[in-house]
Amino acid sequence: VSLAEPFSVELPTTIRFGPGVRSEAGRAAAELGQRVAMLVGQSYDANPARADVDRSIADAGLSAVDRMVVHGEPDDRAVVAVAQRLAGSRVDVVVAVGGGSVIDLAKAAAVVAAAGGGEASLRALLGGRRVEIGVDPRVVALPTTAGSGAEASHGAIVLDRQSGRKRGIRGPGVAARVALVDPELGASAPRDVTATSGFDAMAHAIETSVSRKATPFTELLAADALRRLLASVPAACDRPGDAVARSEAAYAAMLMGINLALSTTCLPHRLQYPVGALTGTAHARGVAALFPAWLARTLEIAPDRLARLAVAAGLSDERDAPERAAGALVTAVEGHLAGTGMRAGLGSLGVTADDIPALVAAVEGTLTNDPGPVGPDDLAALYRASL
Ligand SMILES: [Fe+2]
Repeated sequence: VSLAEPFSVELPTTIRFGPGVRSEAGRAAAELGQRVAMLVGQSYDANPARADVDRSIADAGLSAVDRMVVHGEPDDRAVVAVAQRLAGSRVDVVVAVGGGSVIDLAKAAAVVAAAGGGEASLRALLGGRRVEIGVDPRVVALPTTAGSGAEASHGAIVLDRQSGRKRGIRGPGVAARVALVDPELGASAPRDVTATSGFDAMAHAIETSVSRKATPFTELLAADALRRLLASVPAACDRPGDAVARSEAAYAAMLMGINLALSTTCLPHRLQYPVGALTGTAHARGVAALFPAWLARTLEIAPDRLARLAVAAGLSDERDAPERAAGALVTAVEGHLAGTGMRAGLGSLGVTADDIPALVAAVEGTLTNDPGPVGPDDLAALYRASL
C-alpha cells in the first residue's frame, strides 16, 4: 500500500468516545430532532448503565414516541416492521443501544423508512442501491459490545429470509449520525460475548488490512486496533471489571468500524454469511472457524501483507523476513483463539462436508479484494479445511 494510489476518508459519523459519554445521548438526539424512538437489546433492562441513558433522554425534553426491544439478528421482516413504525409515528431520531444486531437494525430500518418504509424499499436497497448521506430519521448509536463496529461502519447486514441469505445495505448514508462509544455500557457483558465480539473486531483488523482496498490510513488503524485487541480482549474475558481493558477493546472495535467503511473484509467474512444463514450461529463464531485456514493460505500467498501488519502491530521486527513476521501474526491469532475459547471448526457449528456445495453457491459480494484466489474450488477448499 503506497501513497501513489488515490484514496478517500469519508466519515459521516460524529464519534464521541469515553467512559460516561452515554449521558450525552439525550443532547445528541435533541440536536438531530424531537421525536425519538429507542431501539434496545434484550439485555438493556438489566444493564446498570441504562439509567444514565434513559435520564439523559428524559432531561433533553424530547418526545419519546416509541421504544422497541430487539430480539436476535435483523431480518427482512424485522427491518420492514420497524421502518413502518418509524414512518408511522414520524420519528426523526432513532437512539439504538445494543450490540451490532440492534445498531444494524436501527440503521437499516431508518434507511428503509426514509425510502418509503415498505417491502419494495427494502428490496431495492438489498439489491445494491448505494445510500447517500441525508437519511432521515437519523441514528444515534450506543454500542454495548466491543466488536461489530456497527456504530461507525457504513453498512447494515440483514438476513433476507426470502432468499435465505445475508445481505448488506451499504453507503455512507447508512451510517449512524452520532456514535457515543462508552466502554462502561459493556461492563456487564458476559465472558462469551466479550470473547466473540472481541474476535469479530480482530478479524476486521486483519481482513481490512490485508484487503486490496486497504489504504495507508486503514492500515494504520488496523495495526493499532490489533495490538490493543490482542491484549485487552483476554484481559476483559478474565477480569470482567477491568475498566482499562474494556476501554481498549471498545476503542479498537470502533476504529475497525471505520475500517469496515473505508476498506473491506476478506473471505472469512464473505464465507461466514452463508454459514450464519444455514446454522443460525453467531457471526464471530463462524468467522473464527474459518480464520485459521484462511490465515494459513494468506501466509502462503501474500506474506508481505500480513508481515506489514505484524510489524506495525509490534508483533515482529521490521528486519524479519516477511514469512517470519507473518508467521508471528498467525501464531498470535491462534494463541488468542485458543486462550479465549474461540477455537472451534465449522463442524462444531453443525456444518458437514455435504453442505459445502450449497455454501459455495450462496457466497455473495465482492470477493476479489481478498489477496488470494476466489474461484469456487478455492472457496470449497477453505470450507473443507475449516470443518
Ligand atoms: Fe464482522
